[in-house]
Amino acid sequence: MAKPHLSVNMAMTLDGKVMLPDGTWHGLTSPVDRQTMDLYRSRAQALIVGRNSVEKDNPVFALKDGSPGPRPIMICRSRLPVPGLRFFQHDPIIYVPPALTDSDEASQLSQACEIAALDDPSPAAVLDDLYERGFSTVLLEGGPGLNSGFFFADLVDCLYLTIVPFVLGDSHLPGIVDADTCIPDFTQRNWKLERCEKIGNEVFTEYHRQRN
Ligand SMILES: NC(=O)c1ccc[n+]([C@@H]2O[C@H](COP(=O)([O-])OP(=O)(O)OC[C@H]3O[C@@H](n4cnc5c(N)ncnc54)[C@H](OP(=O)(O)O)[C@@H]3O)[C@@H](O)[C@H]2O)c1
Repeated sequence: MAKPHLSVNMAMTLDGKVMLPDGTWHGLTSPVDRQTMDLYRSRAQALIVGRNSVEKDNPVFALKDGSPGPRPIMICRSRLPVPGLRFFQHDPIIYVPPALTDSDEASQLSQACEIAALDDPSPAAVLDDLYERGFSTVLLEGGPGLNSGFFFADLVDCLYLTIVPFVLGDSHLPGIVDADTCIPDFTQRNWKLERCEKIGNEVFTEYHRQRN
């Protein structure tokens, strides 16, 4: 079945970490990385973000040029996000199982977003639904928990990875994919390095998933 083209954008430290011990990701990337993020966002029609990341970092969704950027998307299987986040300023869609639609919390949040029920809001089902709605380019910005669902299901076509010049060292901090097990067929999944650019003190890479 046809699905949107899915890119992932993440930044990681020299030792492969994508979050700080306090559960945020603040102050580790440069203004160039922010510009690059805007570029990747401007190429996408929808932007999938993780609930924990949005609650922790409360990121800005508008692009620097003032345009609204891609439509924000969230997937929540166990609970809805807290209200009041910047995320709600951009007419987002939150995918949930039917059980999460029936609460006072859901009716309050539905004034600020669309709550879309899917029997199983899996990464594949969400991408199918986005495609049916006319979204053909989608960007995923983590975090690593949410990323795991998309990488395990082999749904990622392009990975933008920025390497930032810090070493954190805490072995409990995750990399770009946080899961309890290894992707079983990872040796059969080939990634081709399409771009590798040094700008200032960071390295910007772009890998494409090779499918035969
Ligand atoms: N370095 C970077 O570029 C970067 C980028 C983004 C975020 N971050 C950092 O990442 C941290 C948060 O990451 P996180 O892993 O804790 O949370 P997350 O990935 O932001 O959100 C995880 C949540 O997504 C929901 N989810 C929905 N579908 C899922 C699926 N198929 N598989 C897994 N989860 C799914 C789960 O909640 P339900 O069980 O309710 O569905 C899960 O708790 C923050 O510290 C943030 O700063 C770093």
